[in-house]
Amino acid sequence: MKYYIETYGCQMNVADSELVLSILNEAGYIQADSIDDADILLFNTCSVRDHAEQRVLGRISNERHRKKDKPHFKIVVLGCMAQRIGQRLINEDLGIDYTVGVDQYRALPHILARETGVALDFNSQELYEELLPVHQGSRCAYVTIMRGCNNFCSYCIVPHVRGRERSRPYLDILHDVQNAIGNGMMDITLLGQNVNSYHYRDIEFPQLLKRISQDVPDMLRLRFVTSHPKDLSDALVMEMADNPKLCEHIHLPLQSGNDEILHRMNRNYSYKHYLDRILALRSAIPDISLTTDLIAGFPGESEAQFEDTLAAMREIEYDYAFCFKYSSREGTEAAGFIEQLPEAIRLERLQRMIDLQREITLKKFREQIGKRVEVYVEDFSKKSKSMVSGKTRDYKIAVLSGDGSMIGKLKTAEVIDATAGTLICR
Ligand code: 5AD
Ligand code: SF4
Repeated sequence: MKYYIETYGCQMNVADSELVLSILNEAGYIQADSIDDADILLFNTCSVRDHAEQRVLGRISNERHRKKDKPHFKIVVLGCMAQRIGQRLINEDLGIDYTVGVDQYRALPHILARETGVALDFNSQELYEELLPVHQGSRCAYVTIMRGCNNFCSYCIVPHVRGRERSRPYLDILHDVQNAIGNGMMDITLLGQNVNSYHYRDIEFPQLLKRISQDVPDMLRLRFVTSHPKDLSDALVMEMADNPKLCEHIHLPLQSGNDEILHRMNRNYSYKHYLDRILALRSAIPDISLTTDLIAGFPGESEAQFEDTLAAMREIEYDYAFCFKYSSREGTEAAGFIEQLPEAIRLERLQRMIDLQREITLKKFREQIGKRVEVYVEDFSKKSKSMVSGKTRDYKIAVLSGDGSMIGKLKTAEVIDATAGTLICR
């Protein structure tokens, strides 16, 4: 039997799909090159925003016609949406045959042996121990170090679907990284909802970074995502400054620049605290690039409070910001806040945020012109076979002229031009 998997949402889902590949391959299933070749179509879904859920439902409705020509064709929903509404999805006539929650992937082969099924587990401590994911990236690998989240930001569905935070054993992480390196993926990103609260036995996050760097000397670059501003310790800042494998980039979601909104988001920091962390990072690692997540139109957000976020964006000057329109998620605390803002206001604020960030990103990218940067060459450029592309240490996409022999290697190049998304180098 052949399967094909489509993944939606964040890098955690990409990494989870790689676990699913490992589980299915082990059970004798074969990964198909396209949906046309597949007998089983799996959707690994995201519930963070309503839009993400609607997109997958649209995809499923487009694909269910395949059952007419191929009566044995099966559709499986995995991930956060399965966890959130798995039973509902099966009950409705959507063409879905199985729903399997985020902690039940080991059960997939057993479930697929049945006609239809739902596998959900709501109190799991699952860490998929001793399972080696099949990394799909050609040159960069995402390695999960923890699952779940304890923070309960008031807008966020993640703790409700992914359960409590637990840290993956060190040896599992080490084997995963070594395996990726053995397959030529020299740029490693450690993944978790809140990586800086990693804690396994006596290993905390800064020690984890140090140990991996020491134990895997061939690794070229190490990154991590996502960090929570309230847990960003001085020890982590020092490790970032001292460890040459660690890249000069941090993704540090701010969400809002207004203290009252931050409080109602249950973020547990003030803007002043956040700024203090940014200053600590910038003074220890002068070239560090910063990216963030921001939410426009949180319930009750006034125009003045929204402008505090724009002011924070101007003050900090992120290299890039992922801007989101608030989306009410059933079951979260913020869904119960009375002052939900109209769609038009949320959209308008989102657009202003995006416009401002585009200007700042262009400025930050153009500031790189004339500098020499280290590029980890990952592939040919999409536009031309005589160009290659990759990422700089500070997580910017760079293109330069070159050939296939450069792929997988580090190249130092000069930035000669820049758009708000790409550095053009030579
Ligand atoms: N609405 C809009 N954005 C959200 N995020 C999480 N939940 C919501 C929501 N309900 C954003 C946050 C988070 C990122 C992964 O998604 O900015 O950091
Ligand atoms: Fe959601 Fe907050 Fe946890 Fe991130 S830290 S997953 S935003 S609850």
